[in-house]
Amino acid sequence: MDIAALCGSLRPGSYNQALLETAIVRGERFGLHIVQVSIEGFPAFSQELESNLPAPVVAAKELVSSADCVMLVTPEYNHGVPGVLKNAVDWLSRPFGDLTLRHRPMALMGASTGYAGSLRAQLAWRQMWYFFDAPVFSVAEMTLSFAARMVGENGLVVDPGALERLDLYLEKLAQWLEEQR
Ligand SMILES: Cc1cc2nc3c(=O)[nH]c(=O)nc-3n(C[C@H](O)[C@H](O)[C@H](O)COP(=O)(O)O)c2cc1C
Repeated sequence: MDIAALCGSLRPGSYNQALLETAIVRGERFGLHIVQVSIEGFPAFSQELESNLPAPVVAAKELVSSADCVMLVTPEYNHGVPGVLKNAVDWLSRPFGDLTLRHRPMALMGASTGYAGSLRAQLAWRQMWYFFDAPVFSVAEMTLSFAARMVGENGLVVDPGALERLDLYLEKLAQWLEEQR
């Protein structure tokens, strides 16, 4: 199963990036091949640029289009979604009628330094995904609360309880993606 994952934080030392990198490593044992799609070079969206899509957007669209699932790894900003990831999703959805996200299975993970672990942002993404008429993975949730305490100096999630939940999440996701085929 190929998963194209977008990380919603560009911060060096990002906990969401750590969560994604940990999932990339641990996903293999469940048959999940998770590849990160870079959104770093995406300009701020302007409809004026749609007729000539920027190269990083074209490259990202190709990766997502060939994947079995798109994954958002989302921080939570002000109880909502981070602008940089919303900007990326808006680019991937254009021009109007584009099929990159439409009907494509979607999964969410997220980390935050607060107790909710990005859950409110994840719920906001679910509401937005209504637009794409796509199945959104709901069998398990992966929220990394108090993320600063969960990530080690190696840049990966090290907390045993968090790793147990991540493995369960990945296992259920692999099963669910089989069912989507
Ligand atoms: C603009 C902004 C808003 C934030 N709002 C929230 C929030 O609503 N809930 C929360 O749990 N953490 C919030 N945080 C803290 C983030 O969880 C924390 O900065 C986290 O490290 C961001 O993810 P990252 O490590 O992947 O960059 C906010 C941080 C910023 C910069």
